[in-house]
Amino acid sequence: MGSPWRGYVLWRLGLRTCRRRIALLALFWIGTWMFFSGVVFVHRTMLSDLCSDKKSKQILQGVCEEYGRGVLAGDLCEELCVSRGVEYRRCLYYENGKKVMEADWRGVPIVLKSKLENFSSYEALGLLDYQEGASPSPWDVVLYATMEIRSSLGLEPGGAGEALPGPFPRASSRAELASLWSLLQQEEYAFFRTLQDLSRHVVKVLGSCGHFYAVEYLVAGRAWSRNLFSQEALLGLVGEGQGRGGGSDPSDGGSGRNVVFRIALSFLDMVRHFESDFTHRLHLCDIKPENFGVRGDLTVVAIDVDMAFFEPKMQNVLEQTCTSDEDCNFFDCISKCDMKENKCSSKRVNSNLQVICDKIFRHWFAPLLPVSGAELPLQVELRHAVQECAEMDGGNYVRGRTVHLHLQSLLSQLLQDASGQTTGQTTGQSR
Ligand SMILES: Nc1ncnc2c1ncn2[C@@H]1O[C@H](COP(=O)(O)OP(=O)(O)OP(=O)(O)O)[C@@H](O)[C@H]1O
Ligand SMILES: *[C@@H]1O[C@H](CO)[C@@H](O)[C@H](O)[C@H]1NC(C)=O
Repeated sequence: MGSPWRGYVLWRLGLRTCRRRIALLALFWIGTWMFFSGVVFVHRTMLSDLCSDKKSKQILQGVCEEYGRGVLAGDLCEELCVSRGVEYRRCLYYENGKKVMEADWRGVPIVLKSKLENFSSYEALGLLDYQEGASPSPWDVVLYATMEIRSSLGLEPGGAGEALPGPFPRASSRAELASLWSLLQQEEYAFFRTLQDLSRHVVKVLGSCGHFYAVEYLVAGRAWSRNLFSQEALLGLVGEGQGRGGGSDPSDGGSGRNVVFRIALSFLDMVRHFESDFTHRLHLCDIKPENFGVRGDLTVVAIDVDMAFFEPKMQNVLEQTCTSDEDCNFFDCISKCDMKENKCSSKRVNSNLQVICDKIFRHWFAPLLPVSGAELPLQVELRHAVQECAEMDGGNYVRGRTVHLHLQSLLSQLLQDASGQTTGQTTGQSR
């Protein structure tokens, strides 16, 4: 008899507890959200305090004061401090004293970098104290610098006939020598400078003032986006870079897939170049989008080379004591543990190509939707080739070449088809 009533009451009760549960859940959710946004906010304000315009301008002002006092020098100082040809724009990065800023150099965006914010934080040039009064000849300094760089890159000093570091700023005054010395203490500068005229896949150094050096501004890769490089930013750069290479056609400009294929082809070119165009193979041990940038003509450029090693240095880095293979992983460069000697093999067992396939290409060429019916056969083939590349035996360079060529041909065909589609609707599409 009472059953409909009981049912009703139970139903109301159920509804109420359900409501309460929802309310609790909502409260919990809001609480969590507030907590995390609080954390993010505090983190941001702390970071922005360091990477603020005020702090950046202070640092540059300090550089200019020392330039005025004749402590430091450089080919950019005049424009940075006197004629204002170089103007500060914004802070890009600041951590542990490492300072990266964007500036404008007569209308061209550049990046100013230094590993340490203060000139005085760099080691003073001891050579000068020895020869108080009589300054060393520029030749001595260049020789000294050359040896310093070669050893920092892990290349034997001397080795006649090998590529010497590019043209260094001619140092003659005390301020110039001290500045050159502060720059040479920045491995990254030494690296960029050495490969300046030898590689288009390394960022160009445009000049320096004291311990700050200027490099070309690039569109840096983004970790959090499927579009590794911002399309809008690239379009801007491609517009700028018209005519100086790549044969970029304004009609297909930076449009969609086209850009991705061309950047991927440039990654492949970089891999081949680092593998075979120098005296020693160059290993990249920290491969992630943020560490690469793209120029207006869509060439891929290494911007963070803290973890780039030539073969001799790579071997030193890998040769560690070990008890298992895990001990022999140095970021993206791995080798095997020799259990008898408890020492990691000095030979890397994976390769730049393999890691690029795994960490970059795989995300690019994954199907947009789980249903892969919409893919063209060539796209499916590319996806399989990328997968195969990521899983291959990286120590086998012959196999690597084959995989490399296969990827290159697939990407070229896809690029051709994509270009055909955008310029004339009637062509292509036969695959
Ligand atoms: N040439 C450039 N063009 C545009 N942005 C740049 C350039 N160089 C550096 N950046 C930006 O500045 C950031 C930091 O620069 P950089 O990569 O040299 O520091 P970092 O070496 O990554 O620091 P850490 O070694 O602590 O990771 C980069 O993530 C990038 O966004
Ligand atoms: C750099 O110099 C400024 C001003 O002289 C000083 O306040 C700051 O502590 C110095 N920073 C470092 C890391 O030495």
